[in-house]
Amino acid sequence: MNIKQLTGVILVGVTGLVTLGMVACDGDNAISGNLLKKPTLSGTYDYEHPSTPSGNSLSIKDLLLSRAFKSTIGFPGSGNIDPDMQEASSTFSNASATLGRVLFYDKRMSLNNTVSCGSCHHQAVGFSDRMPVSVGFGGKTTKRNSMSINNPVQFNNLFWDSRAQSTMDLSLRPVFDHIEMGMESDEMLEKKLAATDFYGPLFEKAFGSPEVTRRKVSLAITHFLSSMVSMNAKKDLVDAGKAKFSMMEQMGHDLFFSERTGCFKCHSGNNFSAPDDPGGSYGAPTVAGTANIGLDKSYADNGKGNGKFRIPSLRNIELSAPYMHDGRFNTLDAVVDHYSHGVQAHPHLDANMKDKNGQPKKMNFTQEEKDAMVAFLRTLSDPVFTKDPKYSDPFAN
Ligand code: HEC
Ligand code: HEC
Repeated sequence: MNIKQLTGVILVGVTGLVTLGMVACDGDNAISGNLLKKPTLSGTYDYEHPSTPSGNSLSIKDLLLSRAFKSTIGFPGSGNIDPDMQEASSTFSNASATLGRVLFYDKRMSLNNTVSCGSCHHQAVGFSDRMPVSVGFGGKTTKRNSMSINNPVQFNNLFWDSRAQSTMDLSLRPVFDHIEMGMESDEMLEKKLAATDFYGPLFEKAFGSPEVTRRKVSLAITHFLSSMVSMNAKKDLVDAGKAKFSMMEQMGHDLFFSERTGCFKCHSGNNFSAPDDPGGSYGAPTVAGTANIGLDKSYADNGKGNGKFRIPSLRNIELSAPYMHDGRFNTLDAVVDHYSHGVQAHPHLDANMKDKNGQPKKMNFTQEEKDAMVAFLRTLSDPVFTKDPKYSDPFAN
């Protein structure tokens, strides 16, 4: 055991004692979370209009509304309206996104006040964590690697197996998940938040009345999540004519968008990802949102089925190691090696991962090509997003 681990053990020991002490002399407060910190909210932020390198004005309210029409991606179609996303759009305000920010970082949101969304989604690393799998409220580990969060409002297939159709659909799932946050009932959640002195005023500002309800909690989290827009990576600046790639970055870019690698066929569009049910209209990508990329000959976790997993966004990818649904690769080099010569035969291997003879494709990159690919992937990191105080932890000070 090294010094760091040892300090960890001592700290855990001390915290354990303190927690026990709290329960012994102040049971109600320990359960309600009254002894936890209060948020410090200095400054008001514009959650509705994220900054873009092109200077074009973008409205989260409008994005939410466009996502309320499920039939086509990003385009209002007839019928098939998602009333949840419609309500999320009409109730969006900077005050409700601010409330969502507090909820996102508040450990009271878990059964035993130990875990918040922010525990597994750290801003500095693109809202992922540094673990292959994450630790939930009871010390148990999640089945899969924590995902980075960026531009989630644009996705109709959130999570590694695409099981959530929208930010609103996702918003409360982690709270009631028995490994992640373990909250047992709506009533418990509502009572616990209402027992603090600061939530009443925050709910009042956000929704016009101080009552805490499950519905409002869900909407506020949806609003904060949907405002998490990452659009200021070097790649975005290059696209807007405000920066230039280095020679290596350019070489990696050209490889990424070549027929030889086909990376762009799956990792496509603004987020280098793909939606489910693409349809192919309005320039939408034609690949479905999940694929089997031959990580294994057979899968213990089958993802969406047949070893297919979400084609993840590559934004801020440099920051969100380890990689893949099970966090098996520690570095981007290792990921590129997989595509270079590691693809396994599998009955459901995606067509884009096969060569002309139907065999697993070997891209056989040279060292220079590998370095170039990694250099390009690093241009997807967005320091504005990972440092913006509007997404930061209000309980930190
Ligand atoms: C214990 C760790 C943990 C906690 C707490 C947690 N998450 Fe996650 N999060 C994960 C893991 C693991 C995944 C991937 C799960 C899967 O695919 O099955 C994930 C996936 C996500 C995604 C999907 C991103 C994408 O691109 O598909 C979003 C959004 C998200 N979480 C938001 C939240 C919010 C909001 C909260 C709090 C209400 C929260 N998470 C709490 C670990 C956690
Ligand atoms: C057939 C579609 C497809 C192609 C082609 C493809 N990918 Fe992927 N990529 C995926 C899927 C699906 C995953 C997640 C797999 C999993 O976790 O099981 C992934 C994961 C990744 C990850 C890790 C993401 C994370 O958050 O852990 C990186 C980086 C990546 N791909 C880069 C590339 C590069 C570079 C290329 C081209 C050499 C490429 N991909 C080609 C579908 C594809």
